[in-house]
Amino acid sequence: MTTKYTTEEIKRKYNDFASIYSTMERVQELLGLRKLRQRLLQRASGEVLEVACGTGANFPYYPQGCAVTAVDLSPAMVKIAEQRTKTVASNINIQLMDAEQLAFPEKSFDTVVSTLTLCTFPDPIAALEEMKRVCRKDGRILLLEHGRSSNRLVGRFQDIREDAHAKRLGCHWNREPLELVEQAGLHPIVTRRTLLGIFHEIEAN
Ligand SMILES: C[S@@+](CC[C@H](N)C(=O)[O-])C[C@H]1O[C@@H](n2cnc3c(N)ncnc32)[C@H](O)[C@@H]1O
Repeated sequence: MTTKYTTEEIKRKYNDFASIYSTMERVQELLGLRKLRQRLLQRASGEVLEVACGTGANFPYYPQGCAVTAVDLSPAMVKIAEQRTKTVASNINIQLMDAEQLAFPEKSFDTVVSTLTLCTFPDPIAALEEMKRVCRKDGRILLLEHGRSSNRLVGRFQDIREDAHAKRLGCHWNREPLELVEQAGLHPIVTRRTLLGIFHEIEAN
C-alpha cells in the first residue's frame, strides 16, 4: 500500500531536507545529472517558469537572455535557492507557490521547466496540467524526471521498496513520468531514457 502525502506534509519534509539537499545534489552529480540538466536547459528561452526549483540546482545552466521565475513550496529550499541566484548570471526571481495551483495567467511563459518533481507532487497530473496552462501555445515544457526502471529487476526492487522510500523522502520512485505526461494532456515531442531507463528527458507542449 502506497502512502500518500498532502502538500503540507511534503512542505514539511522538504523544509527538513533542505540542509542535506546539497549532499543529495552531489549524489545526483555522480549519477550524471549535471550533464542531463545542462542538456535540457540549453533548450530554454525567453520568459521561463521553473516549477518546484528546490535549492536552485538548475540555475547555473540557463542560457543567457532567459528571464526566469522559479517557484517552490518549501521556504527552507527557497532560502538556499535565493543564495544561489547571487552566484549565477541569469535574472531569477523566486516565489513560494504550490505547483498544483500556479498563480499565473494562462499562456504566460515561453518555457516551463521542472526537474525531479513528478515523483514528489501529491497530484502530479494537476501540476502538469498547470504547467500546460501557463505555457504559451508555441512554448516548450522541459522535464527531467526519474521513474520506474525499464530493467525488470530494478523496477521490481523499486516496487517492493516504494512505500519505505516514500516514507523517508516523500518520493514515489516507481511512478511512470511519460504516462503522467500523457494523462495530463501534454504532447511529448522529444523523449530520452538513460541509466537503466530510470531518467527521462522530456520536451512536451
Ligand atoms: C526532489 S526536489 C527537486 C528540486 C529541484 N527541482 C531539483 O531538480 O533539484 C522536489 C522539490 O519539489 C518541491 N515540491 C513538492 N511538491 C510541491 C508543490 N506542490 N508545489 C511546489 N513545490 C513542490 C519540494 O519542495 C522540493 O523542493
